Amino acid sequence: MEKYLKLLENNKAWVTLQNYTNPEFFKQSATEQKPDYLWIGCSDSRVPANQITGTKPGEMFVHRNIANMVVHSDMNLLSVVSYAVDVLKVKHIIVCGHYECGGILAAMGNKQYGLIDNWLRHIKDVYRFHHEELDSIEDNELRARRFVELNIVEQVHDLGKTSIIQNAWEKGQSLRIHGWVYDLKDGLITDLNVTFTCTKDLHSVYRLEKKNKASSKKLKIV
Ligand code: CO
Repeated sequence: MEKYLKLLENNKAWVTLQNYTNPEFFKQSATEQKPDYLWIGCSDSRVPANQITGTKPGEMFVHRNIANMVVHSDMNLLSVVSYAVDVLKVKHIIVCGHYECGGILAAMGNKQYGLIDNWLRHIKDVYRFHHEELDSIEDNELRARRFVELNIVEQVHDLGKTSIIQNAWEKGQSLRIHGWVYDLKDGLITDLNVTFTCTKDLHSVYRLEKKNKASSKKLKIV
């Protein structure tokens, strides 16, 4: 049997188990989802959001990409964040990166990889913002670990900068953005304690005026 067919067998076994442990499970999950969390993580197959946090189907809305990036022109990411915040009303957004991240390691080097270089460039920007601290770490592994952490911190910032998040805060919606890091070596997640809870956590240049106030002014960008 081809290896991938095992997945379909596993699925049948999972359905049997779910029906056995909770006969109402599929009836409930087919009607609606009410997740409290949005997870923004790395696509790395070793960092499965639900498994490492013990969350069940329906508990976590998930977006994953290479190196858990929040790129402001990424319509996929923005759509997910908008739906999670405006419709699902999640209470927490968790940006979770991980040590030994291939995207981070590639961004630290100068090799060309093709199309992905355009994605890695966003990660390189984070290195440039923090080059003094990072360049001062002589040990390569330690520097990579710190780069992983700083990248997570920057992505938390980047989420806070969006109008989606700022408008939710303005409306009084309870929404916290957390930065976490997962260690592949022991499976433990560490909270980096860089939680954003309101616009005051942002540098003033990123703070947006209230939507109606801003739109009443003539748009003069150039
Ligand atoms: Co990764």
